[in-house]
Amino acid sequence: KLPASVTIKEVGPRDGLQNEKRILPAADKIAWVNRLSDTGLSYIEVSSFVHPKWIPALADAAEVFAGIERKPDVTYAALVPNLNGLERALSAGADEVNVFLSASEAHSRKNINKSIAEAVQAVKEVTQQGLAAGKQVRGYISTVFGCPYEGAVALDTVERLCEELFSFGIYEISVGDTIGVANPQQVELVLERLLRSFPAGQFAMHFHNTYGMALANVLKSLEAGITVYDSSCGGLGGCPYAPGASGNAATNDLVHMLHKMGIQTQVDEDKLLGASRLIEQKLEAALPSHVYQARKHQ
Ligand code: HMG
Ligand code: MG
Repeated sequence: KLPASVTIKEVGPRDGLQNEKRILPAADKIAWVNRLSDTGLSYIEVSSFVHPKWIPALADAAEVFAGIERKPDVTYAALVPNLNGLERALSAGADEVNVFLSASEAHSRKNINKSIAEAVQAVKEVTQQGLAAGKQVRGYISTVFGCPYEGAVALDTVERLCEELFSFGIYEISVGDTIGVANPQQVELVLERLLRSFPAGQFAMHFHNTYGMALANVLKSLEAGITVYDSSCGGLGGCPYAPGASGNAATNDLVHMLHKMGIQTQVDEDKLLGASRLIEQKLEAALPSHVYQARKHQ
């Protein structure tokens, strides 16, 4: 039996734009986040407070946070790698802090210049101080379904990282298929394993659509009882430190599938179409979302 409703966490302004060659002015990002806020989405990851040399496209995170019009029922979250990032996110007024680490050593090194053990320590510090500042903290685990440098990733490592992250007070772990290599059978196996130890309500799924499997993987996750999904408006996205990574699951495609299946989201598909048109015009490049491309001239 599938869930009756699903929460979508929109990561386009962060995961989407971090991988774009074209760097948009803050005003365009602000306009996009404001349009996304009007679609009914309850959660938007607005930007990240990482080192601007590593992710130049998001160097203006503070300006974007300062410029958006906030709706009371929307959570505006920020991705944060360390205490320096946390400080910047708190002064920018992020509602919620998202920390991240990788389940493979090689990706961890390339992405944040830290071993997994060092990353766990950084996540612990950021979580403690984020909670002390009154913020909820969410955690991403990357490369759960495969690493661009190492290939297969041990489920033991993933399970141990979940245990640690939850013990720090992280309320939800987003299980990341960073380079989009997961298949539905693997999703079933991974969730079977994780849900033996932890409740389904503590996980979100974060699929990338590199091989076109994102929605099939969502369906498997729905069957396993997962009700929170990360996706990106128009299907933008990818991690620059994960070669081969491409767009996130497209919010447009996800919402379309869920609504057709009678599963509620709070998202208005027409308003989402408008938000997608806006970002496609700003980027001057066709968005990968199938539903968007099918509907954009309607
Ligand atoms: P580092 O060079 O090892 O940093 O980078 P450091 O701690 O040695 O510090 C070096 C300098 O950076 C210092 O300045 C720090 O102050 C400064 P200096 O003293 O030389 O003048 N610094 C900072 N400046 C601004 N903001 C900060 C910050 N931290 C230190 N937060 C670091 C380490 C983590 C900072 C770097 O590697 C980095 O920023 N990495 C980010 C990479 C990234 O954003 N990747 C994409 C996001 S993850 C993802 O996409 C996956 C996900 O979507 C899930 C999935 O799909 O799986 C979440
Ligand atoms: Mg991602």
